[in-house]
Amino acid sequence: MKRNKTLSVMALAGATALVLAACGGGADAEGEGGDAAASGGKTMKLALNQTEEHPSYIALDHFGERLSEATDGRWGIEVYPNETLGAQQEALQLVSSGSVDMAIVSGTQLENLNEDFLVFNLPKVFDSVEHQMKVVQDPEITGDLYSSLEDSNHITVVGGFTQGARSVYTKDAPVKTPADLKGKKMRVQESDLHIAMAQAMGAAATPMAYGELYTGLQSGVVDAAENNEVSYFTQKHYEVAPYFSYTNHLVGLDYLVVNSDLLNEMSEEDRAAFDKEWTAAYGEHTQLWTESTEKAIADAKAGGAQFSEVDAAAFDQVLTPLADQFIKTDAQRALYDAARDAA
Ligand code: GCU
Repeated sequence: MKRNKTLSVMALAGATALVLAACGGGADAEGEGGDAAASGGKTMKLALNQTEEHPSYIALDHFGERLSEATDGRWGIEVYPNETLGAQQEALQLVSSGSVDMAIVSGTQLENLNEDFLVFNLPKVFDSVEHQMKVVQDPEITGDLYSSLEDSNHITVVGGFTQGARSVYTKDAPVKTPADLKGKKMRVQESDLHIAMAQAMGAAATPMAYGELYTGLQSGVVDAAENNEVSYFTQKHYEVAPYFSYTNHLVGLDYLVVNSDLLNEMSEEDRAAFDKEWTAAYGEHTQLWTESTEKAIADAKAGGAQFSEVDAAAFDQVLTPLADQFIKTDAQRALYDAARDAA
């Protein structure tokens, strides 16, 4: 599973072609790409794998509008939703190469570039969205982590959006205990940790890109998946896997990643505006998250989904050992302890 530590030339060539096709040429969406450095600005292309109704799309779209206003139109953001610029694994490589300027990627993707990121992808590391946001916005805790990919990959991590609590959903029957997942194939994100997590929960793990999951569930390539209610509804997974069981096994985290060289092109003043508007963006995102979750539950129920509780202690028991299994370095232990201390 470490295959994306180095660039896959084929994947990058394919993904670059996709980007050029999506943008109608080598310049950016507004056509001023070639002059970007000279004019000290650009409409930045942002890769997202969510739909336009997802809180991440809404908050990022508003972020772009405010940034443009604050920089007198020098810097803007065009959000490309629905994996138009590629699934997260490709999007991350495209940000690294500078073909795409920014992306939202799950922490699981960053874990494949620097294993310190896996600490925040562990089950049970965050107790709630509030706890998570407090940790990921604390530069004392995350400062070194967020700049750790700049020299190696030209990627700056700007900050995080919550993914909320993730739970298991299945095609055939609700899940009460890990035993109910025996023999089931569960889709996971492309992460060694999450493969081990699905196995600990009793399932066979199948790593797969997000955009392939609806068809994967529909065709029976997988029998189960795990995500938050917002993704469950906006990706229409409830149509093909109607049993949502509240394992609440982890509070997931997405990151805004930006090509470091591009970020360095910003004047001090424009960078300050970028940081200020990003702060407002994750504030808006966190606020939207609660209402979007409630709406997703109601809408999925109206579409036939059933939500049920699980034996939480039985899941805790199989998930708790993962932290000690996966935390191997002092840096990881320090991040883990800092996160738990903030609980
Ligand atoms: C959530 C998360 C995405 C991630 C997806 C997944 O929707 O916000 O960033 O890609 O889960 O399970 O792949």
